[in-house]
Amino acid sequence: MTISPTATPLAVTVAARTAAATDVVALTLVSADGRDLPAWRPGAHVDVTLPGGLTRQYSLCGDPDDLSAWRVAVLRERESRGASAWLHEHAHEGVALTVGVPRNLFALEPANGYVFVAGGVGITPVLPMITEAERAGVPWTLWYGGRSAASMAFADELAGFGDRVRLFPRDTAGRVPIADVLGRPAAGTAVYCCGPRSLVDAVEDACRAWEPGTLHVERFTSAEPEGDTSFEVHCVRSGVDVRVDGDVSVLDALLAAGVEADYSCTQGFCGTCETRVVEGVPDHRDDYLDHDVAPDTMMICVSRSRCPRLVLDL
Ligand code: FES
Repeated sequence: MTISPTATPLAVTVAARTAAATDVVALTLVSADGRDLPAWRPGAHVDVTLPGGLTRQYSLCGDPDDLSAWRVAVLRERESRGASAWLHEHAHEGVALTVGVPRNLFALEPANGYVFVAGGVGITPVLPMITEAERAGVPWTLWYGGRSAASMAFADELAGFGDRVRLFPRDTAGRVPIADVLGRPAAGTAVYCCGPRSLVDAVEDACRAWEPGTLHVERFTSAEPEGDTSFEVHCVRSGVDVRVDGDVSVLDALLAAGVEADYSCTQGFCGTCETRVVEGVPDHRDDYLDHDVAPDTMMICVSRSRCPRLVLDL
Protein backbone atom coordinates (compact mmCIF):
# COMPACT_ATOMS: atom_id res chain seq x y z
CA MET A 1 0.00 0.00 0.00
CA THR A 2 1.19 3.49 -0.75
CA ILE A 3 0.12 6.11 1.73
CA SER A 4 -0.06 9.28 -0.26
CA PRO A 5 -1.14 12.66 1.05
CA THR A 6 -2.33 13.39 -2.48
CA ALA A 7 -5.18 10.91 -2.03
CA THR A 8 -7.49 13.84 -2.84
CA PRO A 9 -5.49 15.66 -5.50
CA LEU A 10 -6.48 19.20 -6.31
CA ALA A 11 -5.83 20.97 -9.57
CA VAL A 12 -4.30 24.40 -9.01
CA THR A 13 -2.85 27.13 -11.17
CA VAL A 14 0.10 29.39 -10.52
CA ALA A 15 -1.53 32.83 -10.14
CA ALA A 16 1.65 34.77 -9.37
CA ARG A 17 5.34 34.29 -8.76
CA THR A 18 7.79 36.60 -7.04
CA ALA A 19 11.42 36.40 -6.04
CA ALA A 20 11.43 36.03 -2.25
CA ALA A 21 15.26 36.03 -2.13
CA THR A 22 18.18 34.90 -4.24
CA ASP A 23 17.28 31.36 -5.33
CA VAL A 24 13.89 31.40 -3.58
CA VAL A 25 10.73 31.85 -5.61
CA ALA A 26 7.32 32.37 -3.98
CA LEU A 27 4.37 30.88 -5.87
CA THR A 28 0.76 31.88 -5.31
CA LEU A 29 -1.55 28.98 -6.13
CA VAL A 30 -5.30 29.18 -6.76
CA SER A 31 -7.72 26.39 -7.44
CA ALA A 32 -8.25 25.65 -11.12
CA ASP A 33 -12.05 25.78 -10.74
CA GLY A 34 -12.06 29.10 -8.88
CA ARG A 35 -13.34 27.64 -5.62
CA ASP A 36 -11.77 28.13 -2.19
CA LEU A 37 -8.86 25.88 -1.33
CA PRO A 38 -8.98 23.60 1.74
CA ALA A 39 -8.44 25.24 5.12
CA TRP A 40 -5.08 24.90 6.83
CA ARG A 41 -3.34 26.17 9.95
CA PRO A 42 0.21 27.47 10.48
CA GLY A 43 2.86 24.76 10.23
CA ALA A 44 0.99 22.84 7.52
CA HIS A 45 2.63 21.56 4.38
CA VAL A 46 1.30 20.24 1.07
CA ASP A 47 2.52 17.92 -1.62
CA VAL A 48 3.06 19.67 -4.93
CA THR A 49 3.10 17.37 -7.94
CA LEU A 50 4.69 18.55 -11.16
CA PRO A 51 3.34 17.67 -14.62
CA GLY A 52 5.95 14.89 -14.92
CA GLY A 53 4.74 13.26 -11.69
CA LEU A 54 7.58 14.37 -9.40
CA THR A 55 6.19 15.28 -5.97
CA ARG A 56 7.78 17.45 -3.29
CA GLN A 57 6.50 18.94 -0.04
CA TYR A 58 6.39 22.63 0.75
CA SER A 59 5.20 24.53 3.80
CA LEU A 60 2.29 26.85 3.27
CA CYS A 61 3.55 30.35 3.97
CA GLY A 62 0.66 32.67 3.08
CA ASP A 63 -2.24 33.93 5.17
CA PRO A 64 -4.01 30.95 6.79
CA ASP A 65 -7.31 32.85 6.83
CA ASP A 66 -7.26 33.46 3.07
CA LEU A 67 -8.69 30.38 1.37
CA SER A 68 -8.69 31.98 -2.07
CA ALA A 69 -4.97 31.30 -2.51
CA TRP A 70 -2.06 29.38 -1.03
CA ARG A 71 1.54 30.47 -1.11
CA VAL A 72 4.61 28.24 -1.13
CA ALA A 73 8.26 29.19 -1.40
CA VAL A 74 10.74 27.06 -3.30
CA LEU A 75 14.47 27.13 -2.67
CA ARG A 76 16.46 26.22 -5.75
CA GLU A 77 18.58 23.33 -4.62
CA ARG A 78 22.18 23.58 -5.73
CA GLU A 79 22.70 21.86 -9.08
CA SER A 80 19.15 20.55 -8.88
CA ARG A 81 17.76 18.61 -11.79
CA GLY A 82 14.60 17.84 -9.86
CA ALA A 83 11.50 19.57 -8.57
CA SER A 84 13.02 22.81 -7.36
CA ALA A 85 14.77 23.46 -10.68
CA TRP A 86 11.59 22.68 -12.62
CA LEU A 87 9.52 25.03 -10.47
CA HIS A 88 12.11 27.81 -10.82
CA GLU A 89 12.28 27.41 -14.57
CA HIS A 90 8.71 26.55 -15.54
CA ALA A 91 6.22 27.55 -12.83
CA HIS A 92 5.10 30.79 -14.41
CA GLU A 93 1.65 32.32 -14.24
CA GLY A 94 -1.02 30.01 -15.62
CA VAL A 95 0.97 26.78 -15.21
CA ALA A 96 -1.13 23.90 -13.86
CA LEU A 97 0.04 21.83 -10.90
CA THR A 98 -1.52 19.25 -8.62
CA VAL A 99 -1.47 19.56 -4.85
CA GLY A 100 -2.48 17.35 -1.96
CA VAL A 101 -4.49 18.29 1.08
CA PRO A 102 -2.63 20.23 3.79
CA ARG A 103 -1.19 18.18 6.62
CA ASN A 104 0.30 19.52 9.81
CA LEU A 105 3.07 17.88 11.85
CA PHE A 106 4.25 21.23 13.24
CA ALA A 107 1.09 22.87 14.56
CA LEU A 108 1.15 26.09 16.55
CA GLU A 109 -0.11 25.29 20.05
CA PRO A 110 -1.63 27.96 22.31
CA ALA A 111 0.97 29.66 24.53
CA ASN A 112 1.52 32.87 26.48
CA GLY A 113 4.37 33.80 24.17
CA TYR A 114 6.44 32.42 21.33
CA VAL A 115 10.11 32.34 20.46
CA PHE A 116 10.52 31.51 16.77
CA VAL A 117 13.91 30.40 15.43
CA ALA A 118 14.29 29.92 11.68
CA GLY A 119 17.20 29.02 9.43
CA GLY A 120 17.17 29.63 5.68
CA VAL A 121 14.01 28.55 3.93
CA GLY A 122 12.85 27.22 7.32
CA ILE A 123 11.27 30.65 7.66
CA THR A 124 8.32 29.46 5.55
CA PRO A 125 6.21 27.66 8.20
CA VAL A 126 7.06 30.40 10.70
CA LEU A 127 5.54 33.24 8.65
CA PRO A 128 1.90 32.14 9.16
CA MET A 129 2.70 31.38 12.82
CA ILE A 130 3.66 35.04 13.22
CA THR A 131 0.42 36.07 11.48
CA GLU A 132 -1.57 33.93 13.91
CA ALA A 133 0.33 35.14 16.98
CA GLU A 134 -0.25 38.74 15.90
CA ARG A 135 -3.99 38.17 15.47
CA ALA A 136 -4.20 36.48 18.87
CA GLY A 137 -2.25 39.31 20.49
CA VAL A 138 0.36 36.89 21.81
CA PRO A 139 3.89 38.33 22.18
CA TRP A 140 6.58 36.78 20.02
CA THR A 141 10.12 37.22 18.79
CA LEU A 142 11.79 35.79 15.70
CA TRP A 143 15.48 34.93 15.38
CA TYR A 144 16.20 34.28 11.74
CA GLY A 145 19.54 33.18 10.31
CA GLY A 146 20.66 32.77 6.72
CA ARG A 147 23.72 32.58 4.52
CA SER A 148 23.58 36.24 3.54
CA ALA A 149 20.99 39.03 3.55
CA ALA A 150 20.22 38.39 -0.12
CA SER A 151 19.49 34.71 0.56
CA MET A 152 16.99 35.33 3.38
CA ALA A 153 13.47 34.97 2.02
CA PHE A 154 10.70 37.37 3.04
CA ALA A 155 13.05 39.68 4.98
CA ASP A 156 11.15 42.62 3.45
CA GLU A 157 7.81 41.37 4.82
CA LEU A 158 9.35 40.94 8.24
CA ALA A 159 10.88 44.40 8.33
CA GLY A 160 7.58 45.91 9.50
CA PHE A 161 7.78 44.06 12.82
CA GLY A 162 10.67 46.17 14.10
CA ASP A 163 12.94 44.71 16.75
CA ARG A 164 10.74 41.67 17.32
CA VAL A 165 12.55 40.27 14.27
CA ARG A 166 16.30 39.76 14.50
CA LEU A 167 18.07 38.86 11.29
CA PHE A 168 21.43 37.11 11.27
CA PRO A 169 22.98 37.00 7.79
CA ARG A 170 25.96 34.79 8.56
CA ASP A 171 28.43 36.66 6.35
CA THR A 172 27.95 39.95 8.22
CA ALA A 173 26.28 39.18 11.57
CA GLY A 174 27.34 35.61 12.37
CA ARG A 175 25.02 32.89 13.56
CA VAL A 176 21.89 33.24 15.69
CA PRO A 177 23.20 33.31 19.30
CA ILE A 178 21.09 30.35 20.37
CA ALA A 179 22.59 30.01 23.85
CA ASP A 180 21.76 33.65 24.61
CA VAL A 181 18.30 33.55 23.03
CA LEU A 182 17.21 30.42 24.89
CA GLY A 183 19.51 30.61 27.91
CA ARG A 184 16.77 31.42 30.37
CA PRO A 185 13.57 29.30 30.31
CA ALA A 186 10.37 31.35 30.26
CA ALA A 187 7.28 29.66 31.76
CA GLY A 188 4.36 29.45 29.34
CA THR A 189 6.47 30.41 26.31
CA ALA A 190 6.65 27.95 23.41
CA VAL A 191 9.70 27.65 21.16
CA TYR A 192 9.26 26.83 17.47
CA CYS A 193 12.29 26.09 15.33
CA CYS A 194 12.54 25.19 11.65
CA GLY A 195 15.79 24.98 9.75
CA PRO A 196 18.75 22.78 8.95
CA ARG A 197 19.78 19.99 11.26
CA SER A 198 22.65 21.94 12.86
CA LEU A 199 20.35 24.78 13.91
CA VAL A 200 17.65 22.47 15.24
CA ASP A 201 20.23 20.44 17.18
CA ALA A 202 21.57 23.61 18.79
CA VAL A 203 18.05 24.73 19.75
CA GLU A 204 17.27 21.29 21.20
CA ASP A 205 20.42 21.47 23.32
CA ALA A 206 19.59 24.95 24.54
CA CYS A 207 16.02 23.95 25.45
CA ARG A 208 16.98 21.03 27.70
CA ALA A 209 16.38 23.23 30.75
CA TRP A 210 12.95 24.32 29.50
CA GLU A 211 9.67 22.66 30.47
CA PRO A 212 9.04 19.41 28.54
CA GLY A 213 6.76 20.04 25.57
CA THR A 214 7.93 23.62 25.17
CA LEU A 215 9.97 22.99 22.03
CA HIS A 216 8.51 22.20 18.62
CA VAL A 217 10.87 21.56 15.71
CA GLU A 218 10.79 20.83 12.02
CA ARG A 219 14.02 20.00 10.28
CA PHE A 220 14.51 21.27 6.81
CA THR A 221 15.89 18.38 4.77
CA SER A 222 16.84 18.54 1.16
CA ALA A 223 14.56 16.23 -0.77
CA GLU A 224 16.94 16.23 -3.70
CA PRO A 225 20.15 14.42 -2.90
CA GLU A 226 22.18 15.77 -5.79
CA GLY A 227 25.85 14.91 -5.92
CA ASP A 228 25.42 11.47 -4.35
CA THR A 229 26.79 8.33 -5.89
CA SER A 230 24.59 5.68 -7.44
CA PHE A 231 24.11 2.17 -6.05
CA GLU A 232 21.97 -0.93 -6.61
CA VAL A 233 18.98 -2.04 -4.56
CA HIS A 234 17.66 -5.59 -4.63
CA CYS A 235 14.15 -6.11 -3.25
CA VAL A 236 13.94 -9.66 -1.89
CA ARG A 237 10.18 -10.04 -1.75
CA SER A 238 9.34 -8.59 -5.13
CA GLY A 239 12.55 -9.78 -6.79
CA VAL A 240 13.08 -6.37 -8.39
CA ASP A 241 16.53 -4.85 -8.94
CA VAL A 242 16.74 -1.08 -9.09
CA ARG A 243 19.58 1.30 -9.79
CA VAL A 244 19.43 4.40 -7.55
CA ASP A 245 21.13 7.30 -9.31
CA GLY A 246 22.76 10.11 -7.40
CA ASP A 247 19.94 12.56 -7.97
CA VAL A 248 16.99 10.41 -6.88
CA SER A 249 15.99 8.88 -3.57
CA VAL A 250 15.69 5.14 -2.98
CA LEU A 251 11.96 5.66 -2.55
CA ASP A 252 11.55 7.46 -5.87
CA ALA A 253 13.64 4.86 -7.69
CA LEU A 254 11.57 2.02 -6.22
CA LEU A 255 8.23 3.66 -7.00
CA ALA A 256 9.36 4.35 -10.56
CA ALA A 257 10.18 0.65 -10.90
CA GLY A 258 6.72 -0.29 -9.69
CA VAL A 259 7.74 -1.48 -6.23
CA GLU A 260 5.06 -0.87 -3.60
CA ALA A 261 6.36 1.15 -0.67
CA ASP A 262 4.68 3.07 2.13
CA TYR A 263 5.60 6.72 2.53
CA SER A 264 4.27 9.99 3.77
CA CYS A 265 6.58 12.91 4.67
CA THR A 266 9.37 12.02 2.18
CA GLN A 267 11.75 14.02 4.37
CA GLY A 268 12.92 11.47 6.91
CA PHE A 269 10.94 12.45 9.96
CA CYS A 270 7.62 10.54 10.03
CA GLY A 271 8.84 6.92 10.00
CA THR A 272 6.27 5.68 7.47
CA CYS A 273 8.81 4.46 4.93
CA GLU A 274 10.91 2.48 7.45
CA THR A 275 12.20 -0.60 5.63
CA ARG A 276 14.20 -3.59 6.89
CA VAL A 277 17.71 -3.88 5.52
CA VAL A 278 18.56 -7.51 4.75
CA GLU A 279 22.10 -6.89 3.47
CA GLY A 280 24.38 -3.90 3.06
CA VAL A 281 25.18 -0.78 5.07
CA PRO A 282 22.75 2.12 4.89
CA ASP A 283 23.83 5.75 5.02
CA HIS A 284 21.22 7.03 7.49
CA ARG A 285 20.05 10.58 6.81
CA ASP A 286 16.72 10.59 8.61
CA ASP A 287 15.61 12.30 11.80
CA TYR A 288 13.49 9.40 13.00
CA LEU A 289 15.70 6.45 13.90
CA ASP A 290 18.09 6.27 16.83
CA HIS A 291 21.31 5.76 14.87
CA ASP A 292 23.32 5.02 18.02
CA VAL A 293 21.78 1.57 18.26
CA ALA A 294 22.65 0.46 14.70
CA PRO A 295 19.12 -0.03 13.39
CA ASP A 296 18.52 -2.84 10.91
CA THR A 297 16.01 -0.64 9.14
CA MET A 298 16.31 2.53 7.08
CA MET A 299 14.14 5.41 5.93
CA ILE A 300 14.20 4.93 2.18
CA CYS A 301 12.89 8.43 1.45
CA VAL A 302 16.16 10.12 2.43
CA SER A 303 18.76 7.53 3.46
CA ARG A 304 21.19 6.06 0.97
CA SER A 305 23.87 3.36 0.88
CA ARG A 306 27.46 3.13 2.07
CA CYS A 307 28.08 0.12 -0.18
CA PRO A 308 27.46 -0.69 -3.87
CA ARG A 309 24.40 -2.87 -3.16
CA LEU A 310 21.61 -2.84 -0.60
CA VAL A 311 19.13 -5.68 -0.16
CA LEU A 312 15.78 -4.54 1.21
CA ASP A 313 12.78 -6.40 2.57
CA LEU A 314 10.36 -5.15 -0.06
FE1 FES B 1 8.46 9.88 6.29
FE2 FES B 1 10.25 8.45 4.96
S1 FES B 1 8.29 8.96 4.34
S2 FES B 1 10.38 9.11 6.99
